[in-house]
Amino acid sequence: MTPEEPSITPYPDGPLIVRGAINLRTSDGAPIPQKRRTIALCRCGLSTIKPFCDGTHRLSGFRTDD
Ligand code: FES
Repeated sequence: MTPEEPSITPYPDGPLIVRGAINLRTSDGAPIPQKRRTIALCRCGLSTIKPFCDGTHRLSGFRTDD
């Protein structure tokens, strides 16, 4: 994998960590601006800034198998 190649890594009991250049879009296809090349995407469903993680998973007791 080259440094430019995007990767997605699940964080235990937390978000998906996305590294590298990706095109993040809404369900309508509109671009979602990214301020960083590494972002955390919510997978607990409780974030107030979806699709990004805001840390709420820690308070909710969200658990994953990985
Ligand atoms: S995974 Fe962090 S708020 Fe949902």
